[in-house]
Amino acid sequence: MRRPVAQFSGIGRAVPPRVVTNHEFAAMGLDTSHQWIVERTGICERHIAGEGESTCGMAARAARTALERAGVDAEAIDAIVLSTATPDRLLPATAVDLQAELGATRAAAFDLSAACSGWLYGLSVAEGLIMAGTARTVLVAASEKMSAIVDWTDRSTCVLFGDGAGAAVLQPSTNGRGMLSTFMRSDGTLAELLYRPHGGATVPMSEDVLRERTHLVKMAGREVFRHAVQEMSEAVDEALSRAGLTSDDIDLLIPHQANIRIIEATAKHAGLPMEKVFVNVDRYGNTSSASIPIALDEAVEQGRVGAGSTVLLVAFGAGFTWGSTVVRL
Ligand code: ACO
Repeated sequence: MRRPVAQFSGIGRAVPPRVVTNHEFAAMGLDTSHQWIVERTGICERHIAGEGESTCGMAARAARTALERAGVDAEAIDAIVLSTATPDRLLPATAVDLQAELGATRAAAFDLSAACSGWLYGLSVAEGLIMAGTARTVLVAASEKMSAIVDWTDRSTCVLFGDGAGAAVLQPSTNGRGMLSTFMRSDGTLAELLYRPHGGATVPMSEDVLRERTHLVKMAGREVFRHAVQEMSEAVDEALSRAGLTSDDIDLLIPHQANIRIIEATAKHAGLPMEKVFVNVDRYGNTSSASIPIALDEAVEQGRVGAGSTVLLVAFGAGFTWGSTVVRL
């Protein structure tokens, strides 16, 4: 097993107070039902941002909790990595708004775009910065206001997502604690299975784009499902073998929370019973890259894991991107 370089010193989460249940979609005039959504996805409700709640604002709330638990002042942060698919503005990065909001006056700050895998990509970047000696204290945040980019008239996507944020403070490892392995992959040949076709630099926002709703998320659900199961299984195997561990060494599997059937298939592949798998997709829906830090924070809060526990984190998302890491907390 390799010696860890970076460890988690504190973690936090933040979600908007407003909860939207499955029943509310039918009330909005969508041809769907609580039963369909629960049976196909495991989702019962999700948190949705209200007026004035921003990607930066949620990230700042999660970050403040993480910093407080780490006993770290904002001025001590050397770098902020913010994973988001929903930046508040296209320029500059939302990470600099977060840097200003926190008063992290010494920090470099940038956004990272890897969809649902983004927080795990961010952990790997933070580990590299710490390993190189470029940074000692890195804030890795993920914040997603998915409600701003889903098509609320498309029942096959809008029921799946929710808003929220999570953040962790990473610092040099002590006493063998920290990240024991990381794994990242991507396959851009499959980008159009889950994407926002227009509204970027190639086809900028226009009245046509708005009318045709091509700036919003489009997804080939079945294909995404198939790849998610396949690649998350690969990611489980890679994280374990790179850490020199087997699933018997894992106290808790925390997979990206997109769909209970994807989670169950990943657990089955890992040979882990569902008692060793953390699930909160029922209460949050898919919060993209925020899902794993939100879940990890809840797992710690509920006493499912604590200092010394070994957790396996696995994600898959648009791109496609996928990745995994084993962490000794
Ligand atoms: N309510 C009622 N019916 C619906 C709804 C809905 N909300 N959404 C779709 N349907 C209908 C479809 O129109 C279709 O009807 P048809 O047979 O008349 O054409 C029928 O249900 C079956 O549709 P499928 O897409 O084949 O249903 P499936 O069982 O594959 O479930 C789902 C769809 C839940 C989207 C599934 O494919 C899935 O979870 N895919 C993974 C998507 C995902 O999680 N993406 C998130 C980003 S990537 C990631 O985070 C892993």
